[in-house]
Amino acid sequence: MLETAASKTHHTGTEITSVPYSAIDRFEPTFIESWMKRVDIITRNTQFIGGEWIKKLESRLAQHADTKEARVCANGTDAIQLALRALGVGEGDIVLVPDSTFWATFEAVCNVGARPVTVDICPEDLHLNAALVAEAIDKFSPKAVIMVHLYGWVAKETKQIRQLCQERGVFLIEDSAQAWGATIDGKSIFADALVSTTSFYPGKVLGGAGDGGAVLTNDSALAAKMHLLANHGRQGKYEHHAVGWNSRLDVLQCAYLDLCLDFISQRIASRQYAAEWYRNNIHAKAIQFRGPAANTTENGYISVAFVEPSLRDKLMQGLTEAKIGYGVVYPAPMSTQPGIKGWIAGKLSHGNAARVCETIINLPCFAGMQQNELEYVKHHVERILK
Ligand SMILES: Cc1ncc(COP(=O)(O)O)c(C=O)c1O
Repeated sequence: MLETAASKTHHTGTEITSVPYSAIDRFEPTFIESWMKRVDIITRNTQFIGGEWIKKLESRLAQHADTKEARVCANGTDAIQLALRALGVGEGDIVLVPDSTFWATFEAVCNVGARPVTVDICPEDLHLNAALVAEAIDKFSPKAVIMVHLYGWVAKETKQIRQLCQERGVFLIEDSAQAWGATIDGKSIFADALVSTTSFYPGKVLGGAGDGGAVLTNDSALAAKMHLLANHGRQGKYEHHAVGWNSRLDVLQCAYLDLCLDFISQRIASRQYAAEWYRNNIHAKAIQFRGPAANTTENGYISVAFVEPSLRDKLMQGLTEAKIGYGVVYPAPMSTQPGIKGWIAGKLSHGNAARVCETIINLPCFAGMQQNELEYVKHHVERILK
């Protein structure tokens, strides 16, 4: 795998003086030309909403994800709301969400009228684990749990959490906005989930030319419900069977994402190479790189490392001076965001999510990253932390 990836990562032969945190303009040689052809055809046809491009993309997404069904929608936040609504989660229901995630996970629960409870993460794999979910189920009697697969990794105890939720009669939604292409025990993360959601935000591993998202499941009735809700509850043109909203994905987005799927395995390999290269090649005592759990593979969405808070400031300053982009994903847990007021129904905290937020640092990691960019980052990280 890595040999293939390495062959996609070239020396440019020129001295570099900066590296972006993320770049989405490292297009493959034929990409822009192929995209322009599609834009031309679609513009002349003027079928901008609905039709064959949507069906084609949905069928390819399901095939890649190894699920029976995939339904596209307007964005990854809507995808979570569609899943919650289709499962009947709403007014007054409690939903568990990890304290370490993007705000959209929390927000989606509130937007369907339910109330989130934040649950701490396991300090080893930085995700929910079965013990924490069990503790929170006992304490808060939720109707649903949203498990988030963060950083392009997969929660180590995914299988145990799936089983636990099934045994306890709690719906499990898997927010895989960051996990397109990640696997567990050699299988797609989507394959055995009750229902998963994803995002096609441009910076994601499968990123669009704008906003987009999808829901994925093996349950055809559930897929049909989510599809109905995403299109005004419509069955005929003016026949409405539910109060939904407009969360359609347009044809141009579908055609762009369909083209990206042609290149997705090499893009993932390139990202995986970068994330792995840092782990194996940056040697500084003060920085500890972390990687996916042993039974899983990452998609290389984000590189994860930890540095003590006092040194993290020094590192961030040094990186800025060396014109190297970096991320802090995320700087604060959900349960401390100002926007939780009036929404949060409780929290289960052992301080792990907060500790991660204080120490995490993310180095540049994107598809098409060059070998000399990786080496430039290594050189400066080791110099700054020496
Ligand atoms: C974990 C997670 N959930 C949900 C979302 C929301 O996706 P979108 O921005 O497409 O609405 C994101 C996007 O950043 C995310 O990272």
